[in-house]
Amino acid sequence: MTCAIEISHLFFKYDEFKMDDVSLSLHVGEQKAIVGLNGSGKTTLFKLILGLLEPISGDIFVFDRKVTRDNLWEVRQKVGFLFQNPDDQLFAPTVWEDVAFGPRNLGLSEEEVSERVEWALDRVGMSKFTNRPVNQLSHGQAKRVALAGIIAMRPSILVLDEPFSGLDFKMVHTMIDIIQKLRQEGISILFTTHDRFFIENWSDSVAVIEDGRIIYDGPTKDAIRRKELADTVGDWNYLQEQIISYRSHMLE
Ligand SMILES: Nc1ncnc2c1ncn2[C@@H]1O[C@H](COP(=O)(O)OP(=O)(O)OP(=O)(O)O)[C@@H](O)[C@H]1O
Ligand SMILES: [Mg+2]
Repeated sequence: MTCAIEISHLFFKYDEFKMDDVSLSLHVGEQKAIVGLNGSGKTTLFKLILGLLEPISGDIFVFDRKVTRDNLWEVRQKVGFLFQNPDDQLFAPTVWEDVAFGPRNLGLSEEEVSERVEWALDRVGMSKFTNRPVNQLSHGQAKRVALAGIIAMRPSILVLDEPFSGLDFKMVHTMIDIIQKLRQEGISILFTTHDRFFIENWSDSVAVIEDGRIIYDGPTKDAIRRKELADTVGDWNYLQEQIISYRSHMLE
């Protein structure tokens, strides 16, 4: 069966961190959460998928086509990657130029580029900021512009590294709305989160990563009962109990 993304026996190493035999599939149309504690390797995994890092060994396939140095541009047309930190993503002088960069590289006419930029900026509620220098945007605004740059490319797969962090509730709503509409068109989604709410309500399957190894991978309905998930994202009552206990001590 064709997978949107298939990762097979991937090994990678930084000085003090290693990715150890990671295998993972994202099926076509699937929405999969990758969860893990800080430093467990989620962003590293995403950078490997996009070819921003090179594995020691192992293969990555995007729609059955192996990712190699020679076809990175092709891969990046299919896979829209939202960086964890939007400052790493935006580089053009203005918002407009930044969102136009990808569509221009697709060789579209200036008219088509303009249409896509206007549509994408409108979708993320940033139409009023077209001439704003990207380095003057707030964190949430920068994230919206980064998302606009991705959807303007009309990708088949979205790889979203903590898409909801730092967004106000209206933008979370907008983000969900945008992504659900894309999903109805058959887009496949891989995303990271530390928030159990999004895992339970917004994913079909979950993979848990610990120190560069996948320790659980399965349907969300099963994952929610698993210790691996509770150990990684906590459970609903844990923080509440902690805080109530802390406050009751304070009042004693
Ligand atoms: N450029 C780098 N050079 C060396 N080590 C790195 C580099 N980038 C990340 N690391 C290390 O690799 C490990 C995995 O980092 P990564 O950013 O993938 O974690 P993460 O799961 O995305 O964490 P978070 O939840 O904080 O975003 C960490 O121990 C980190 O310190
Ligand atoms: Mg990360």
